[in-house]
Amino acid sequence: MTENPPSADLRTDQPHPARVYDFYLGGKDHFGADREFGQKVLSICPQLRPLARANRRFLARSVGVLARDHGVRQFLDLGTGLPTSPNLHEVAQAAAPESRVVYVDNDPIVLNHARALLTSSPEGATAYIDSDVADIDRIMREAARTLDFDRPVAVSALALFHFLPDPQPAELLAGLRGRLAPGSFLTISHVLPALQEVADAYQGSMGMGTLRGRDEITALFGDFEFIEPGLVDPFRWRPALEPAEEGPGDEIENLGACAVARKPA
Ligand SMILES: C[S@@+](CC[C@H](N)C(=O)[O-])C[C@H]1O[C@@H](n2cnc3c(N)ncnc32)[C@H](O)[C@@H]1O
Repeated sequence: MTENPPSADLRTDQPHPARVYDFYLGGKDHFGADREFGQKVLSICPQLRPLARANRRFLARSVGVLARDHGVRQFLDLGTGLPTSPNLHEVAQAAAPESRVVYVDNDPIVLNHARALLTSSPEGATAYIDSDVADIDRIMREAARTLDFDRPVAVSALALFHFLPDPQPAELLAGLRGRLAPGSFLTISHVLPALQEVADAYQGSMGMGTLRGRDEITALFGDFEFIEPGLVDPFRWRPALEPAEEGPGDEIENLGACAVARKPA
């Protein structure tokens, strides 16, 4: 938990998605209102904690695969959340120190912690953009100071789009996909309609956009082509890359879906 007095604009009297997610992950950057709300949600759905952890491990495995096996050196992460080790740039730069990473979020507490996201290897670069992801034109303009959009970029939006109502995700992705170079990647993770009770709790407190089924999530990828194993539960996306991991399994089945897809040449 954060013990230093918070600044006024953090609205610590109300739960906030990034801080509640940090609570699920066992992090330290949450306040009383976040813990109270998080506990309430965990009493409805105790699987949310292992699901959040499985989502973070999917992030690490997928970034590792993109950097190591597909030679990706540029990453744009939408809805980054609070710094949680390993952060995306740590995974990418461990595989390829010259990797360049741009983070985007609109939560003031994430902005407060952006320093922790901006520690780059000397060969690479990291940047942080404080923006609503809906403003994709501005994001691409500012990200272009760090990333070369004439070359492949891996865009990730993990555990983000269920906070956005339709048609926002489809619209922003339509604006983005066409402007990425062939060989770029899109990585998405999303909760599934089985979590309706959780979504209702969020809706009452901080607004949860829309739960989407696998077909709707697949549609967000447009003409991008899934790499193996396609759209699956986060704990099923190449689990063999973590041989030591005793991660969750059946108890979080059918609660979330994720995939990585490539823009065709
Ligand atoms: C559940 S967290 C996911 C964090 C991280 N992507 C992960 O999967 O570990 C969702 C994040 O999306 C951010 N977010 C939600 N709506 C947003 C919006 N419209 N624009 C920018 N960020 C947003 C929240 O502030 C929060 O940090």
